[in-house]
Amino acid sequence: MTRTITIRRATIADAFRLGEIGGTTFTETFGHLYPPEDLAAFLRSAHSPEVWHRRLQESHIAVWLVEVDDGVCAGYASAGPCKLPVPDLESNAGELFQLYVRGPFHGRRLGSRLLTAALAWLESRGFDPLYIGVWSRNESAQRLYARFGFTRYAEYEFPVGTQRDHEYILRRA
Ligand SMILES: CC(C)(COP(=O)(O)OP(=O)(O)OC[C@H]1O[C@@H](n2cnc3c(N)ncnc32)[C@H](O)[C@@H]1OP(=O)(O)O)[C@@H](O)C(=O)NCCC(=O)NCCS
Repeated sequence: MTRTITIRRATIADAFRLGEIGGTTFTETFGHLYPPEDLAAFLRSAHSPEVWHRRLQESHIAVWLVEVDDGVCAGYASAGPCKLPVPDLESNAGELFQLYVRGPFHGRRLGSRLLTAALAWLESRGFDPLYIGVWSRNESAQRLYARFGFTRYAEYEFPVGTQRDHEYILRRA
């Protein structure tokens, strides 16, 4: 039973723990979709502690951790200037880059709370409109984003190793 829930901004000291939760949650969610070598290459490029260390030093992006029961890391989110291949992208467009909650903690509103924190930060920084890239078959995430006012706007292919995933770009103005 979860007693306490804390959402806080991640710091450089969290690089190792973000590498761990980033790799774990991606593998839990999408690991079955890719050949092991593609998955391993993606995890090295996106979730090594070194990559997170660099990312956490970037002043224009923000990362949040949700911790339960005195320090157990249950999920994370990150946001910043939009990097999605949006046609005619607005110069002040923002993006939710990542939103992941560990499987055993799904359905407890932790994702909603992380998303609320990330959207509030994006809005406070003047980012508008806001975009999210989501796998076309990830229906639960799409339901969550729809509850927060995001609608489908465009489509693109997201590379994972040698594979290309069909993704939707969601937008909220
Ligand atoms: C998508 C994800 C972040 C959601 O996190 P979560 O903590 O389970 O989300 P919440 O508990 O806030 O919301 C999920 C459930 O709570 C309920 N809920 C939350 N807010 C609600 C509301 N305002 N009204 C009604 N129901 C609500 C819903 O039943 C919802 O389930 P659904 O999938 O049937 O729609 C999580 O499932 C996850 O990490 N998935 C794997 C990674 C992933 O897909 N990330 C997104 C990549 S783009």
